[in-house]
Amino acid sequence: MNVSILGCGYVGLVTGVCLAELGHTIIGVDVDKNKIESINNGHPPLYEDKLPELLLKNLKNKKFIATIDLKSALSSSEFVFVCVGTPQLDSGETNLDFINSAFTSLSEELKTRKIPLTIVIKSTVPPGTNDLMLSLLEKKSGKKEGVDFHLLSNPEFLREGKAIYDFFNPDKIVIGARNKNASERLKNLYSGLPGKIIETDPKTAEMIKYANNAFLATKISFSNEIGNICKKLDIDSYNVMDAIGLDQRIGRAFLDSGIGFGGSCFPKDVKSLIYTSKKLKYEPKLLEQVVELNEKQPLKIIELLKKSLPNLKGRTIGVLGLAFKPDTDDIREAPSIKIVDALLKEGSKIVVYDPKAMDNFKKLYPQIKYVTVEEVIRSEAVLILTEWKEFESFNYKGKIVVAGRRIKKAREAKIYEGVCW
Ligand code: UDX
Repeated sequence: MNVSILGCGYVGLVTGVCLAELGHTIIGVDVDKNKIESINNGHPPLYEDKLPELLLKNLKNKKFIATIDLKSALSSSEFVFVCVGTPQLDSGETNLDFINSAFTSLSEELKTRKIPLTIVIKSTVPPGTNDLMLSLLEKKSGKKEGVDFHLLSNPEFLREGKAIYDFFNPDKIVIGARNKNASERLKNLYSGLPGKIIETDPKTAEMIKYANNAFLATKISFSNEIGNICKKLDIDSYNVMDAIGLDQRIGRAFLDSGIGFGGSCFPKDVKSLIYTSKKLKYEPKLLEQVVELNEKQPLKIIELLKKSLPNLKGRTIGVLGLAFKPDTDDIREAPSIKIVDALLKEGSKIVVYDPKAMDNFKKLYPQIKYVTVEEVIRSEAVLILTEWKEFESFNYKGKIVVAGRRIKKAREAKIYEGVCW
């Protein structure tokens, strides 16, 4: 099938390259000329394992190309996936500006288009957005859903750093459609992939995405709540979670306590769901606690650090790990941001190392020192904020280490404290 991908960010580019790998012909569209140029030169503008190889292969076999020209892309496409950003406003509300402008452009296309277009919203949008976009499309284009176009929802569940694996190994493919044949067409696009196909209506599909992320975030905050209690009882919370995770009804995944969840999804999606709930006159107390606990969790590491160094002013503190998790250069909402802020307020001297995220962090914090691992380990105390595998090969002997993420080797330190263990 011929597919346009509207928005070549993290989700759009991965989805486009993987659909090309499935044999479809993909045109990636974006407004950012530099991004389009770098993609067509085989350099993805984001770090994701195996993406460069897959992109190059599909550029070479002409199954993938990127352009800024939406009109020409749509003229040769039966499908268009809307993968534009849905950032968060301070209130927690999802900013739908990019979605609205995407659908305004699609309305223009529909006005003159001769063959039906299947439009698929993949961006994470509040439940009810698909319905809103349906009325915008019909009003602005004068065309009819089910006749001149189809409008579906198809949320993604890709994890940064494992996105390509997740695309080819989904546990479910969620399709929100208003009629069966539209759903069938989208199902065919994914034929060959494993995973259970969930066919439902668009609003339910949108909610499945939020509930999925909100539950995973809740599991993490639960592990941190129990972890904080365990810490006071001198219990290693991982031993507790290893045991309860054996209960089929619980499962071990996403019960790693530490300094809390970061990333561009969990914080944003849970706050968006809270905002939507309040707009519907429902008080989501549990979700609010999930966020509140998560926002306080990173600073537990400063409390522990002060047990060894009560006065942090002028002290040189080393930070290992800046990314919100390993195998990514992404620092959005990373716990390291709150922790570096706190150390700056204490007047500490900060030296940091991260295998991938230092360039991104430097844009926010040019005033701290970006050094080698050896220099970080020579600091008066070392904080571990991301569990990069390579941190298991360092020598922590004789050091003060406070761990916000689990690195077994660090237990050899002279003084070792784990935030929840
Ligand atoms: C998440 C969802 O997993 C994915 O399905 C969705 O599509 C996008 O959001 P991602 O944000 O890339 O993916 O990262 P994830 O691996 O889920 O980790 C999120 C955060 O939770 C990271 O900061 C990680 O360190 C933290 N985490 C994860 C924990 O603190 N404990 C855990 O047990 C697992």
